[in-house]
Amino acid sequence: MMNELRIENIHAAYSKKEVLRGVSLSVKQGEIVALIGPNGAGKSTLLKVIAGFLKPLQGNLWLDSKDITSFAAHERIGQGIAYFMQGGRVFPNLTVAENLEMGLATLSLQNKKDGISTVLEIFSNLKVSLNRRAGLLSGGERQALALAMVLVRRPHLLLADEPSVGLSPKLVQRLLGKIHELNSIWGTTILLVEQNIREALNIAHGALALVNGEVALETVQPEEWLTNGQLEQLFLGRTQEAIAK
Ligand SMILES: Nc1ncnc2c1ncn2[C@@H]1O[C@H](COP(=O)(O)OP(=O)(O)O)[C@@H](O)[C@H]1O
Ligand SMILES: [Mg+2]
Repeated sequence: MMNELRIENIHAAYSKKEVLRGVSLSVKQGEIVALIGPNGAGKSTLLKVIAGFLKPLQGNLWLDSKDITSFAAHERIGQGIAYFMQGGRVFPNLTVAENLEMGLATLSLQNKKDGISTVLEIFSNLKVSLNRRAGLLSGGERQALALAMVLVRRPHLLLADEPSVGLSPKLVQRLLGKIHELNSIWGTTILLVEQNIREALNIAHGALALVNGEVALETVQPEEWLTNGQLEQLFLGRTQEAIAK
């Protein structure tokens, strides 16, 4: 199974503006790594690069020992990578079941049924709404559906860009609880970008703080960041630095 991600010295830019300045990280098989950092730090850009939607200027990406740097986005999906884009969307006029099928468009009917039934084991709340139009779901259910849509192929590696954005604290807990279940039940390796830092660090095995396109801080004991004040210092210090520039 190909599911340990390693990236090394990734540089990326939009036209002339460099946004990632030599980012290296690894997410070990079966782990959740939380990626946090202020707005504009380059978190979404990094996920775009890993998913294959933005070509890096420099640097390499590996899945286990396979160099996937030159792989197109669809080839990375074929390698078991799933990408939940920031602001994940559903098709409001399709039913929940049809939305889930959209994630499986190219598979045979039996494989579709299997994919959908496994994802419903985790997102069991969606079972009762299978024939409802997605546009009629509550915000929390809609976001769970958007996440379920990228999981129907049972990926080895999930890249999730702020899956809980806009949800109430209770629903944030619930959605991140699902991500935790996904990791512990399926063993899915997960790189999780989150603004809900405390909740993300609570389920993560490792964490990285990205500031100005660079890894500013890294830990394999994310819970420490919750208690030692390092995080507050980093966010305050660096954002003020950035403002002063
Ligand atoms: N498509 C784009 N074109 C040009 N600049 C972009 C684009 N997307 C993001 N940026 C810029 O790149 C920087 C990093 O953005 P982003 O990766 O979205 O950060 P984050 O997800 O950490 O908030 C920001 O300055 C942002 O304005
Ligand atoms: Mg972002």
